[in-house]
Amino acid sequence: MNRLLAYFDAELPGVNEFLDTETAKLNGLVRDVSRHVLLGPGKRIRPVLTICTARALGYGGNILPLACALEMLHSATLIHDDILDDADLRRGKTAAHVAFGTTQSVLAGDLLLALANRLGAQYEVPRVSWLLAEGIMATAEGEVLEIASLSEPIVDRDLYMRIIIGKTARLIETACRCGAAVASPDRSVEDVAGAYGLNLGIAFQLVDDALDYVSPTSTMGKPEGGDLREGKITLPLIHLFEDMGPQDAEPLLASIRSGGLDEAGQKRILGMIREGGYAGRTRDAAAEYVAKAKESLAGLPDCEERLVLSLAADFVLSRKK
Ligand code: IPE
Ligand code: IPE
Ligand code: MG
Ligand code: MG
Repeated sequence: MNRLLAYFDAELPGVNEFLDTETAKLNGLVRDVSRHVLLGPGKRIRPVLTICTARALGYGGNILPLACALEMLHSATLIHDDILDDADLRRGKTAAHVAFGTTQSVLAGDLLLALANRLGAQYEVPRVSWLLAEGIMATAEGEVLEIASLSEPIVDRDLYMRIIIGKTARLIETACRCGAAVASPDRSVEDVAGAYGLNLGIAFQLVDDALDYVSPTSTMGKPEGGDLREGKITLPLIHLFEDMGPQDAEPLLASIRSGGLDEAGQKRILGMIREGGYAGRTRDAAAEYVAKAKESLAGLPDCEERLVLSLAADFVLSRKK
């Protein structure tokens, strides 16, 4: 893991400096919102994935604008997501819409999406622009699907997987595909990077859904137990429902959906998930996707970046925040 940390340590100053410089140029109304979120303590996983895939495939140009475009896209989705989820904490700080208001936050998210596209277009590789558009589209569709699912009487694993692939895994896949596409026009190597990113992205969200039940707010920098409060049926809960059987699960699901679960009820479910090992089972599911992601790496040249990508996959599984 030391090689992974060393890689992040070497790359993050450049990423952070670029984000600082670009956001400082934005219009005053959205500049402060963008900087509040973007310059906060994000893990910067997506830009590092773009850097690694590009370099693994021999790219020697300036990858920072493209890498930072991915972080901007991600941060824009976080700003909008916190409005949709009515969440008040992000990256350990007051969520943007609470600190600056919804109007400025919506606009800041829009501006960041646009800026990210412009940074990507500067490479004059049409495939990169296409990939960014696809990634944004898939993310928005995932969010739409999740919101639509809030009124579903039943949630199955298949629907859950479609939601997490859309809202999270596709953008992580995009980060990897963009790095590959800027390095090489060979679609087969882009597909290798894409397979790694997609499986890593699925694992990433599965672990996030496990952590939502077991990792404290102070570690995660976002509200603990948020999914249950927001009426989100994620894998730990799906496992619990399966074990309960339909007679008990159906009324419980109805009360979660209707917001009828009071604080004591929420605590009871949190306790059942923790004591029943359901977060651990969700991590086990993530481990399968991490293994698939690592298998894909055999299709990349043997180099420092390939090792970092492999270690990044291990990190996604073991992460605590
Ligand atoms: C949070 O992503 C949103 C999800 C897709 C779960 P990260 O956990 O990568 O957030 P930051 O960038 O480190 O804040
Ligand atoms: C993650 O959504 C994906 C996006 C932000 C598009 P969530 O709502 O599951 O993530 P957190 O828990 O707010 O980070
Ligand atoms: Mg959210
Ligand atoms: Mg959400």
